[in-house]
Amino acid sequence: MRLDRLLANSGLGTRSRLRDKISHGSVQVNGVVVTDASYHVNESDSITFDGQEINCQTKLYYLLDKPDGVLTAMEDKRLPCVADYIPSELKSKKLSPVGRLDYHTSGLLIITNDGELSHRLQSPRYEVPKIYLATYRGLEWTDEEIATVAAGFSIRDKGYSEQIAPADLKVKDKLSDGTMRALLTLHEGKTHEVRRIFAHFNKEVLELRRIELAGVKVSEDIDSCGEFRPLTEDELGLLFKAAGLK
Ligand code: URA
Repeated sequence: MRLDRLLANSGLGTRSRLRDKISHGSVQVNGVVVTDASYHVNESDSITFDGQEINCQTKLYYLLDKPDGVLTAMEDKRLPCVADYIPSELKSKKLSPVGRLDYHTSGLLIITNDGELSHRLQSPRYEVPKIYLATYRGLEWTDEEIATVAAGFSIRDKGYSEQIAPADLKVKDKLSDGTMRALLTLHEGKTHEVRRIFAHFNKEVLELRRIELAGVKVSEDIDSCGEFRPLTEDELGLLFKAAGLK
């Protein structure tokens, strides 16, 4: 992880202030002054800040391409859950998923122990874009329906009405078995939101896959399901930017 990010994660100030302190020689890594904020450090490095040893409570950031048929939970006695995809050496790191995908939704889940980032990525305030690839059956979308989705509308469910924020629907293609595919971009994360939007317009979602969150992507193809890997610096940059942390 970059030195300035690790120091910021340890609560020592904003990254711009820390970059300034680093360039002025306030930080040593393993006894050597480092003036480059992008210098790569890890948990095993000994870091001092203005002469004080700092406790690098490292924040960890991973991506899981959740398969269909897996619960977004860190523990379950009966069903497979996302914890089954996290290597045992990370079990003590207090990792948890950012938001949730339905049991039968596959795709991109961010897994982190950074509570602030997690909170912001889920908050409607930051309108973090999430793109879903839905395979569905039903009548084709009309221009009027697509415009209604784009404007935002209200869904009535079990006697309650719930406002759905403006979303972007793009019809993609028709498959050889007659089912259709569309991409839906949401800027909020209400429970079963994609399935409920489709149902509202009399379309049944047969398969759902989240392929993008704040510009971080997984393949449209389900072949990558089950992959668990650290986020790259570029991907982390996208998430921090979307969450207003950069
Ligand atoms: N919308 C849904 O309907 N399901 C998900 O898993 C995510 C968004």
